Amino acid sequence: MYRWLLYILITFICFSCQKENDPIVYEGSLGSNWGDYNPTPKEPKGFDFFPEMHNPSFNPLTEEGVVLGKSLYYDKILSTNGLSCSSCHLPQYSYSLPVMGPVGTAILPHINLGWYNKFGWTGSEDHLDYVALADLAEGNPFFNANSDSILSRFQKDVPLQQMFWKAFGVKIVELSVSERNNYISFALAQFLRTMVSDNSKFDRYLRGEESLTPSEASGLDIFMSEDKGDCFHCHGNPQNPLWTDKEFHNNALNSTFSGLDLGRYLVTGDSNDIGKFKTPTLRNIELSAPYMHDNRFATLEEVVNFYSEGLQHSPYVDPLMQKIGQGGAQISPSQKVDLINFLKSLTDTSFINNPEILN
Ligand code: HEC
Ligand code: HEC
Repeated sequence: MYRWLLYILITFICFSCQKENDPIVYEGSLGSNWGDYNPTPKEPKGFDFFPEMHNPSFNPLTEEGVVLGKSLYYDKILSTNGLSCSSCHLPQYSYSLPVMGPVGTAILPHINLGWYNKFGWTGSEDHLDYVALADLAEGNPFFNANSDSILSRFQKDVPLQQMFWKAFGVKIVELSVSERNNYISFALAQFLRTMVSDNSKFDRYLRGEESLTPSEASGLDIFMSEDKGDCFHCHGNPQNPLWTDKEFHNNALNSTFSGLDLGRYLVTGDSNDIGKFKTPTLRNIELSAPYMHDNRFATLEEVVNFYSEGLQHSPYVDPLMQKIGQGGAQISPSQKVDLINFLKSLTDTSFINNPEILN
């Protein structure tokens, strides 16, 4: 009975000796060279008129976490095949790459992902914080990150171990494989949350800093009008700076469906989801050709021709594809030029040249 009292007393004394914000110093195998674990909170950057970015309490954005995430993003240390995340997600293509990805789908760009809640073409991942786990999983042919190979590489890289300590207060080489992969994924998610684009010509137009050309303005009108292009139901509007509704739709690319073209159905098993894919953002769309989940269209001209006169009938076409009855939006040649000029006003070159994101 008295022993318990003693424990409580000792615990109380210990807590009162350590002030809440005192840095914890890790005296590990490297003596006291680890430095402080006292991460600096970082404010997610975002659009003035946009809801707050999802910044979960279990993995809040910190300066140290982002530095570590950036380092891992560009480092080949996670792979035995000489790959890094940036091998497939390259700045000049808005952090994608104009080839097919390993499993037969187009590579998705990394842009404003901090506002999403479903990842991948079919929404197979729900959490940005855990999105890299699939890459790190044992047997993944592109990272081939089995526990031993990563561990031995991390053991040799003391500065990297110190970065994990500074970001998360963990001794990364002493963790279990799953814990280690979680922290790698957390750091990458933090970096991905800083990959924010909000300075396209269209953003500057919204801020009153620049005006649209008559052709771009006409293109916006075509995009926003139900009786013209009718794109905004799925791809958003000027009040939605992500330029996607983040939902899944069948946009009438195919009349029959098999294999990967089954889309979100492969995740949910619900026949209503046949042929549905996540609406991609149109931000920086000029940079991320070719287009669609299977890279079938090489240019924006081909995409616009498809929406104008190439829609394919099937029982699964989204009701929002209201022009399906007439085979497409039937846009005139000059309207097509305007629509494409508007889409190009969503290009943000300061994003792809941002030194905080570049290696
Ligand atoms: C071999 C090429 C390749 C490499 C390397 C690669 N990715 Fe990807 N990434 C892809 C492809 C392909 C997709 C689209 C997958 C799909 O949904 O079918 C994708 C999608 C993503 C997405 C979802 C984007 C969205 O809009 O939903 C995230 C996040 C992502 N990758 C992060 C990473 C991270 C972090 C790394 C490094 C650990 C990485 N990727 C390495 C090819 C790659
Ligand atoms: C019913 C919803 C819907 C409507 C309406 C719609 N889209 Fe799409 N859009 C999608 C979906 C879903 C995809 C991805 C489809 C896929 O890859 O299978 C897509 C893909 C695209 C792409 C390629 C994106 C990329 O990264 O590969 C462009 C460009 C595009 N749409 C532009 C437009 C334009 C312009 C209009 C109006 C003429 C329009 N969309 C109307 C849902 C829609």
